[in-house]
Amino acid sequence: MPKIKFLPADKEIEVAEGTNLLDAALDNNIQIDHNCGGNCACSTCHVVVEKGFDSLGEMTEDEEDMLDEAENLTDQSRLACQCKVVTDMVINIPPKESDWEDDTF
Ligand code: FES
Repeated sequence: MPKIKFLPADKEIEVAEGTNLLDAALDNNIQIDHNCGGNCACSTCHVVVEKGFDSLGEMTEDEEDMLDEAENLTDQSRLACQCKVVTDMVINIPPKESDWEDDTF
């Protein structure tokens, strides 16, 4: 089963091959924002794929369009709700500027 390490929490989980990346995180109490409920209609589930990027399927035009709206975009950015896990991965959940307004951050 593929392993996914989430940063910056440094939490590793194992999931069945083909699991949706956003679902994998949420099912394991790893918080990734998902304002549109995983429908590729926002950019809040933006993650940076530090390992395993090439294993992901090609981005759809919709994902590309939504990703353009994300903060802290990199060339290894994806929307978690649009990714299926097929190999070991390292996923960095970037901070959002809005988080800085939260006293608990
Ligand atoms: S949750 Fe909105 S695009 Fe992924």
